[in-house]
Amino acid sequence: MKNIGVIGGAGYVGLVTGVGLAALGHKVISMDLDRHRVDLLRQGRSAVYEQGLEDLLAELSSRGQITFTDNPAETVQASDVLFVAVGTPSLDNGGADLSAVITVAEQIREYISKYTVIVVKSTVPVGTLGAITEILSHTLTEGEDFDVVSNPEFLREGTGLIDFFAPSRIIVGSDSKRAKSVLREIYEPLLDGSAVVQIPWLDPDNTISYLETDAVSAQMTKYAANAFLATRISFINEIAGLSEKVGGNIEDIVKGLGMDPRIGSAYLQPGIGFGGPCLDKDLRALITVAGENSYEAVMLNGVLNRNELQLREMVNKITLAVGPSLYRKRIALLGLSFKEGTNDVRNSISIRLYRLLNDLGASVVGHDVLATDEVAILEPKFEVYADLPSVLNGAEVIVLLNREDIYSSIDWSKVSFGPKQPHVLDTRGILNVRELQKLDISYDVLGSAKSPKKLS
Ligand SMILES: NC(=O)c1ccc[n+]([C@@H]2O[C@H](COP(=O)([O-])OP(=O)(O)OC[C@H]3O[C@@H](n4cnc5c(N)ncnc54)[C@H](O)[C@@H]3O)[C@@H](O)[C@H]2O)c1
Repeated sequence: MKNIGVIGGAGYVGLVTGVGLAALGHKVISMDLDRHRVDLLRQGRSAVYEQGLEDLLAELSSRGQITFTDNPAETVQASDVLFVAVGTPSLDNGGADLSAVITVAEQIREYISKYTVIVVKSTVPVGTLGAITEILSHTLTEGEDFDVVSNPEFLREGTGLIDFFAPSRIIVGSDSKRAKSVLREIYEPLLDGSAVVQIPWLDPDNTISYLETDAVSAQMTKYAANAFLATRISFINEIAGLSEKVGGNIEDIVKGLGMDPRIGSAYLQPGIGFGGPCLDKDLRALITVAGENSYEAVMLNGVLNRNELQLREMVNKITLAVGPSLYRKRIALLGLSFKEGTNDVRNSISIRLYRLLNDLGASVVGHDVLATDEVAILEPKFEVYADLPSVLNGAEVIVLLNREDIYSSIDWSKVSFGPKQPHVLDTRGILNVRELQKLDISYDVLGSAKSPKKLS
């Protein structure tokens, strides 16, 4: 078993990785410069929400399998392997901001005292591993003192633990045989099925693909995967828009598409577009890499353009419902985190919609199951409630933005509206439209031409 340090250990990826590696039997020291988050973790609480995470954390902490610190020197010195999971947000030009990765590389160089494998989990563009190697090589020798490996992360927020213990694949990119064998040893308990992890919803028969490759291919695979998922979303949004025009029903179209095993139905649900901490940021970073390499990313730009148009289309739909202007119109947005099952509001497209509506003078209220505190920090003027009736009451337009069960099971007959019935815009196809029809509430389901009422 290895001594492993996780840098950025209080973030989504870092925490799931640290807890997961500790559960495999490794001794983990998890380091983060966010002291508040580290203090919380020492008390067994996590600032990021993942189902089952705090329970596992409590058990592993009590056994001393994982500890938390904000001290980089202690972390680097205690570790044979360092997983780097710091953030790589978008710069204004769309490229990835690598400043945290660079800082970490400098700290590792300062405190390293024995051969250490540096594993880059953060999503970083091609060239970054070379930059880390260069920083370390100022005083150290590659292959003797350190090796750098790309081990991109594919977890999905909301199912983070499942994705750690039963990942679709593990990809390890490096030219160093020594480093590759260290990574293989780390993941072996997952691969040979010997890891005993008490997570009830885990499929025990899951098999994990393990791919060893070079660092460039590993990094490109991560970006290609996210760009492909974004492409599917933009594709189905475009088909949904067209389907509305010609009188189709997107639900059946998606069903029909998904019946083709070459296509499948994952990431083919129409919606307001993609946002969140990864898809938009990684797509932009890939487009920037293409530009830097004088390569025209025609398709990738199209995917991004459709996503921007989709958001504007939502504003148009809302305006059409209560127009001619949105001034002082009460609009309720349901679902503010970037997707259901998480409290992550980073680059949430729902928040972008709020800003656009707010700029147009609308009086916007919002509801979220997990993210009310996070929204309050991000947008202090946004009136947000965890209590659904307060948001629905008096709304002129109600916009369903994610697939939380609480929204599909709203009992509309019990909602007390203002003087006028609201208009309901369902961007995720989760409404029980029969009930709305019975109550004579006008609605619009994205991608479906079946809205019963003409909007005036
Ligand atoms: N969130 C996801 O779903 C997801 C999935 C796959 C890959 N990724 C990638 O993983 C990386 C991390 O993403 P995240 O969502 O976990 O970010 P995050 O913001 O949740 O976590 C990053 C953490 O790093 C810490 N940090 C920043 N600089 C540091 C430093 N110098 N030393 C120690 N800690 C430092 C921050 O305090 C924060 O807690 C990104 O590159 C992201 O693109 C994210």
